[in-house]
Amino acid sequence: MTRRRLVTIALLAVALLVAFAFAVVIREANVGGEPNAEVPLKAHAREAGIDVGTAAEQNALRDYPGYRTELAREFSTLTPENAMKWDTLEAERGELRWEGADAAVRFARDRDMLVRGHTILWHNQLPRWLGEGDWTRAELRRVLRAHTRRVIGRYRGRVAEWDVLNEIVADDGKGLRESLWTRVLGDDFAGDVLRWAREADPDAKLYLNEIAADGISPKSDAYFALVQALLAEGAPVDGAGFQAHFNLDGVPDGFEENLRRFSDLGIDVRITELDVALPDGAGDDELAQQADIYAEVARACLRVERCRGITVWGFTDRFSWIEATQPGFGAATLLDRDLDPKPAYDAFAQALRDGGG
Ligand code: XIL
Repeated sequence: MTRRRLVTIALLAVALLVAFAFAVVIREANVGGEPNAEVPLKAHAREAGIDVGTAAEQNALRDYPGYRTELAREFSTLTPENAMKWDTLEAERGELRWEGADAAVRFARDRDMLVRGHTILWHNQLPRWLGEGDWTRAELRRVLRAHTRRVIGRYRGRVAEWDVLNEIVADDGKGLRESLWTRVLGDDFAGDVLRWAREADPDAKLYLNEIAADGISPKSDAYFALVQALLAEGAPVDGAGFQAHFNLDGVPDGFEENLRRFSDLGIDVRITELDVALPDGAGDDELAQQADIYAEVARACLRVERCRGITVWGFTDRFSWIEATQPGFGAATLLDRDLDPKPAYDAFAQALRDGGG
């Protein structure tokens, strides 16, 4: 073979590879975007008198047109999945990075969606300077107050609700979760943070938000007692969130009853982070079980007086936290990796359409 022919073949091969890479990139960027059903979830939800929302993943929101299209078409509320967490906003002390949070709020605003701010105080995703800092009580209170005011104040009038206190109840139901906050501030910081939040935006609805307190259990009893105590001391609590990170163990016992007891306190209730993780290799049976669980959650919310809505924690398996954080599990959302509807989507839509009956 002549040298020239070899060069030609090599060039052709390179051109082919480049074209292939381009095709992959273009396909990736354009995945999704087609309607999943004639009537979107948010229209069914509106009819039924509740909201339906999703967590929004910040990179997907920026880079994937199909993701943006489907998010706006299906959902009436948006929760930034990570963009408002302390480590995202202030990785280096005093250097605030608002890009992701601002983009999410702008996106929602342009599309008439309600934003749920998430989250002010949590034990996870703290910047190192904060989590590993050596604080006196007075210093940490000051830092926390400044953060609460700064973040909620920035979005005053634009973020309708805040998960102010996230996962502060101990998993065994014995008081508050041990964390930087309890170690330095003691056990009575919750009311203060809520009051600072109220000052920063008097019109925003202020929530506590809990993980694994969905059914009736020692933990949800402790959650309930905490909310009751806060209300009794006059702290501004407008709502209680229930994350509802489920798997094929199903909806925990007493789920609806639990939502109802909080609702009966006269505060709002929301399902804030619904997903249903499947074990890897799950087939049609598991997808059907998952669909039933999504539908059951929708029915429970619809039957509880002050349940205002359901937020899913990601709406496509392509961008779900489960794969990244729970090895051996995945496929937890309503749409598959190509943003096509799974049985869970249809069952969830049907339950919203049926309105809790
Ligand atoms: C998760 C995000 O989805 C992940 O991307 C991140 O790596 C970890 O946090 N409870 C909460 C959410 O309140 O903020 C968490 O979100 C999931 C559990």
